[in-house]
Amino acid sequence: MSNTQSRAPRPVADERVALKARRVSFSWDRTPLHWIPDDPFTTHTINVLHLLLPAGERWFVHVYKQVLPYIRDDRLREDVIGFIGQEAMHSQAHDEVLPHLKEQGLDPTPYTAQVDWFFEKLLGDRTLPPGRAREWWLMERVALIAAIEHYTAFLGDWVLNADELDRKGADPTMLDLLRWHGAEEVEHRSVAFELFEHVDGGYRRRVRTWALAFSALMFLWQRGARFFMENDPTVLDGKASFKEFYQGGKRGVLPSTGAMVKSIPRYLSRSYHPSQEGSTAQAVAYLASSPAAKAAEARTPNGAV
Ligand SMILES: [Fe+2]
Ligand SMILES: [Fe+2]
Repeated sequence: MSNTQSRAPRPVADERVALKARRVSFSWDRTPLHWIPDDPFTTHTINVLHLLLPAGERWFVHVYKQVLPYIRDDRLREDVIGFIGQEAMHSQAHDEVLPHLKEQGLDPTPYTAQVDWFFEKLLGDRTLPPGRAREWWLMERVALIAAIEHYTAFLGDWVLNADELDRKGADPTMLDLLRWHGAEEVEHRSVAFELFEHVDGGYRRRVRTWALAFSALMFLWQRGARFFMENDPTVLDGKASFKEFYQGGKRGVLPSTGAMVKSIPRYLSRSYHPSQEGSTAQAVAYLASSPAAKAAEARTPNGAV
């Protein structure tokens, strides 16, 4: 553990909110397979989230439970515990979409089995002896999560502002799932980075793990989109291409390629802090109006999971 706290980048403003998991639930009965009407490619590109996040966010929780003993700051520990509660709920909510896809003839199991292997085996605990090797691998994974959270916050901010999805008539239940999740990603966007800074914070490690996280996300995402397009029983000769992704970004139904490219040097800047991106006020406002979050609040007013 290196002592980097004194020179760690500070938040732009103290926007800290107490993190609580909202016990949401969604009914998928009325959500069509192509929940963005007449746009299977965009639908499935966003659907990849349902393939990656159940295993990915379960893995976040697994890693963070191991890092709790390394935290020497009560406020950060409280944030990490709140983060764990939120990510566990996100994982469950996306997992619950998968049976709905299967009922409509799109069985995601062949792909999710690969994603499970990726997170549970490749990025799992491995059989390391207690000591330096085990700690090195834990810190490497904490840094990987910080890099991934740069992108979950980026996507959360994007979906909160993606008005074009409303204009295209996207299914309101799916939009609420994406925006509830996106808003909580914006709400807790500083936690993973601050944890990484607290327990390690090495710049070379930040760059190395960013490169790994970015490459893995791009690889898994394009494979997931291709998998859905090729296996969608209602799409003939379905394909997923970068050109379509680029055009979706131009139309505002997907994140733009330019915005994604520009986000890279921001994360790699030595003065980066996640609070420089997105708006906590916007996230909190969405959570106050989200049908699923409001129903959860009515069921469990203290937000405890
Ligand atoms: Fe999440
Ligand atoms: Fe997150």
